[in-house]
Amino acid sequence: MATSVDGTVPTAERYRVFAEREARGLSACYESWASGVADDQATAALIDELQPAKRQPNLVFSAARLLGAEAGPYAEFRDWLHAHWRDVRATAETHATQTNEAGRCALHLPVLAQLPGPLALLEVGASAGLCLYPDRYGYRYDTGRGVVRIDPADGPSPVQLDCAIDAAVPLPDRLPEVVWRAGIDLHPLDVTDPDDLAWLDALIWPEHDDRRRRLRAAAAIAAADPPRIVPGDLNERLGALAAEAPADATLVVLHTAVLMYLDDAGRASFERQVRALPGHWLSVEAAPVFPGIRTRDEAPHAPSDVVLALDGEQLAWAQPHGRGIRWLPTP
Ligand SMILES: C[S@@+](CC[C@H](N)C(=O)[O-])C[C@H]1O[C@@H](n2cnc3c(N)ncnc32)[C@H](O)[C@@H]1O
Repeated sequence: MATSVDGTVPTAERYRVFAEREARGLSACYESWASGVADDQATAALIDELQPAKRQPNLVFSAARLLGAEAGPYAEFRDWLHAHWRDVRATAETHATQTNEAGRCALHLPVLAQLPGPLALLEVGASAGLCLYPDRYGYRYDTGRGVVRIDPADGPSPVQLDCAIDAAVPLPDRLPEVVWRAGIDLHPLDVTDPDDLAWLDALIWPEHDDRRRRLRAAAAIAAADPPRIVPGDLNERLGALAAEAPADATLVVLHTAVLMYLDDAGRASFERQVRALPGHWLSVEAAPVFPGIRTRDEAPHAPSDVVLALDGEQLAWAQPHGRGIRWLPTP
C-alpha cells in the first residue's frame, strides 16, 4: 500500500494518498491542497524538481506555511506556491518532516503504565524529544461516560492531553516513574532555538490550534530539563545508547511516526535489534510500516488511524496525533 512518504510513488499519487488517507477528517485545508496538487500537472511538475524524498506533501505544505502561505482554498495556495516556489524549494531542501507531538504520550501511557517500573525510555526518531516526558503531562481521557484525569504526582501540568477512548482501554491511576530518558534522531531539534520551534509550529496542520498551544507549553517543560538526543541513524546508535540505560529499570524502546522513513532493510534491521534488547518495544506507526505486525482490519477504524503495538503485537488503533484510542479485544 502506498504512503505519502514513499519516494518511489509518482507525485500525483502521493498527494492523492495523503489527501484521502492522511488528511481527510483531520485537515480540510490539507485535504484540499493535496487533492488540488494531485489534479494539477503544472504544480506536480514544480514539486518534481525536488528529490523524491523531499516531495512529501507534509514537507512541501509546511515549508510553504513557514514562509507565509495562508490556509485557504487550493486556487489561492496554487498561485502563492508558483509565485514563491524558489524559496519553498530551498526550505524543503534544508528541512525535514520532524513533527513532534507531545499528544502522542496519551497513546503511550496506557501501555507504559502496565510495565514494571521504574522505566528507562529510549525514543528513536525523537525529533525535539517532547514524547520523552509522559510523566510531566496531564491526561484527560474521555470514556464517553465521563472524563478520567491523570496528573503528575506534584500537581496539574501546563500540558493537558485530551484523548477519547473506549471502555476497554486500561487506564492507570497514576503516572509511571521515569528514571532515565534519551533519544536518537538524524537531526535533533532544540526546543530552546526559536528557528527550530518555528519549524515545529509550521509542521502542525493549519486547523490544529490546540496542538500549536500545546507545542509551546511542552517545549517549556522540555527546555527546563533538556532531553539527551543523540544525533545519528537509529540503527547505528540504538545498541550503544540502550546499553547506557540503568539495569534496574525497565527499558522501553519507543517510536511514533518514524519507521516509514526507513526502507525495508532498515525496518528489518531495527526490528531485529529491538527484539534482541532486554525490556519492551512500544510502536505507533501506520499500518503498512511493519508487515510483521498483524493488523486487525476487522476492527473499525478510520483510514488515517495508526497501529499501537507492544513487542510487535497490535493492542489498539490510534488517532495519529494522540486524540483517540480504540482498544482491541485479545485475539
Ligand atoms: C515525524 S517525526 C516524529 C517525531 C516524534 N517521534 C513524535 O512522534 O512526535 C520523525 C522523526 O524521525 C527522525 N528520523 C527519520 N529517520 C531516522 C533515522 N533513520 N534515524 C534516526 N531518526 C530518524 C526524523 O528526523 C524525525 O525527527
